[in-house]
Amino acid sequence: MTSDPSRTRLIAVEDAVALAALVAANRAFMAPWDPVRHDEFYSEAGQRAVIAGLLRDHADGRALPHVILADDGTVAGRITLGGIARGPAQSAGMGYWVAQELNGRGLATEAVARIKELAFGPLGLHRIQAETLPHNVASQRVLARNGFERYGYAPRYLRIAGDWQDHVMFQAVHDSWTGPAAV
Ligand SMILES: CC(C)(COP(=O)(O)OP(=O)(O)OC[C@H]1O[C@@H](n2cnc3c(N)ncnc32)[C@H](O)[C@@H]1OP(=O)(O)O)[C@@H](O)C(=O)NCCC(=O)NCCS
Repeated sequence: MTSDPSRTRLIAVEDAVALAALVAANRAFMAPWDPVRHDEFYSEAGQRAVIAGLLRDHADGRALPHVILADDGTVAGRITLGGIARGPAQSAGMGYWVAQELNGRGLATEAVARIKELAFGPLGLHRIQAETLPHNVASQRVLARNGFERYGYAPRYLRIAGDWQDHVMFQAVHDSWTGPAAV
């Protein structure tokens, strides 16, 4: 999978306007795949608060929060590496979404390729974890096309759409990782 550097970029506080419009327009589309959100989440102020938290985590070395860009450069969704763990783990979790009207164009597949390249390149991570609901075939395709392998099944793993739901666990491992010899 080749990675297009113009497909994602670091999120910015100024993205709150576009993201608030996108999450509001996609509220019903996202509902089966997302935690139940407070109404505040769908407002510009709510998105500013989300972004501020992500950028704090980024500054602390715990997250890589990017927006996904459409061909015309407008914001189409989000992808985030979070929970970056160093020491013997050198691992992170990944989540992403793309606005419904822009689905099926390869945007998520390309965004995952880009984030994987950054994770295994400049960030020096050894592993990325992602999980999907068992029936989220589109997301599983995105992961498979980026070399993610299924490694497990976690019963009642996350509270999605109001219910503790089973998830399929995927990971990508950087087999030629060359990091510090000691932690
Ligand atoms: C999952 C999601 C990110 C995919 O975004 P996208 O930009 O449409 O993804 P891509 O176009 O890169 O690839 C989607 C793949 O799934 C396939 N697909 C889409 N819907 C499908 C379905 N119902 N059944 C089987 N395959 C499906 C597409 O054909 C494509 O695979 P292909 O290129 O091999 O044909 C998007 O649908 C989304 O945001 N969903 C809601 C949130 C979510 O599920 N996030 C992930 C949580 S784990």
